[in-house]
Amino acid sequence: MWTKKDLLGLRNMDIKEIQMILDLAKEKKEQIQDPLKRNHPCSLYNMMTLFYENSTRTKMSFTLAGQYLGMQVSDLGVQTSSVNKGESLVDTALTLDQMGVDVMVLRHSMTGAPHLLAQNVKASVINAGDGSNEHPTQALLDMFTILEKKKKIAGLKVAIIGDIAHSRVARSNVFGLTKMGAKVVLGGPSALVPSTMTCLGAEVAEDILSAIQDADVIMGLRIQQERQKGGLFPDLREYAHCFGIHPELLTLAKPDVLILHPGPVNRGIELTTEIIDGPHSAIYEQVQNGVAIRMALLHLLTEGRKYYENLDQTGESYRSFYQEGGDLRYFDRGWENPKPAASRAI
Ligand code: CP
Repeated sequence: MWTKKDLLGLRNMDIKEIQMILDLAKEKKEQIQDPLKRNHPCSLYNMMTLFYENSTRTKMSFTLAGQYLGMQVSDLGVQTSSVNKGESLVDTALTLDQMGVDVMVLRHSMTGAPHLLAQNVKASVINAGDGSNEHPTQALLDMFTILEKKKKIAGLKVAIIGDIAHSRVARSNVFGLTKMGAKVVLGGPSALVPSTMTCLGAEVAEDILSAIQDADVIMGLRIQQERQKGGLFPDLREYAHCFGIHPELLTLAKPDVLILHPGPVNRGIELTTEIIDGPHSAIYEQVQNGVAIRMALLHLLTEGRKYYENLDQTGESYRSFYQEGGDLRYFDRGWENPKPAASRAI
């Protein structure tokens, strides 16, 4: 039974919850290419995407995942909304909450924006990427792709290469992969690979060669020029020369190494075209797996809502469940009296 209202990150998610999503995604994947297998289990619910930052993969895969499950799906259209008249994130979400939105999928440049929303609305909130903090559904789809290709996660060496400092994908993968028993090694320009990442359970390699040595999986990360404040590495050509993944480097890794990248890829910068389109790459499968993971997550979250809503007929509070000594216990969270927002200015 799914017991969480929101999906905000992998940092506080337990292995059982991660496994539930990965298991259900296997079933959902069959429904992506075969419309006759789609059975619309979430048709009672609606979902709205709120993207304050650009996206192709995450936004469209949530949209399609919702539609394949029978949800009514809409998009706030941030650029044409009252956000442009100065309405705050919390006020926008409270307005949508009153309209009966069940699931809000939020991407925002501010770390913690989905957490703030989750405290203030009755809707389930899914973090579709918050600043440099977390991108949990990306890490889940990465783990799903690794499982499909390698049949396991525990014991694998996963090298994540690139702009770790600005990467919510790297952080969520470190939380998720280490919980699942993988060794995560980070590599890239030293200014973009903070040594503090070791506190989160990852290893920081001395250089890119030792990061890639004997790796089972190599994940390239996009150089996020929009988040660079400048001066962290000389230029893109220099980056490609020193840290770009090319066929010769792959000889250091395991012979069956798997290449991943969350996209969008800067072709020829993080990975060469031979690598992107080569036999080791699962970059396009990652995209399809993103739909499967988001279908699984939306199904579990809405099943959870159905269960809580049946138990809590008053509609005045939201009941959270937890396991204690074999008993299922609960506490009520007063959604009619939300906690004061940490900042209403966002
Ligand atoms: N991987 C990822 O988040 O891609 P988008 O920015 O296109 O959603």
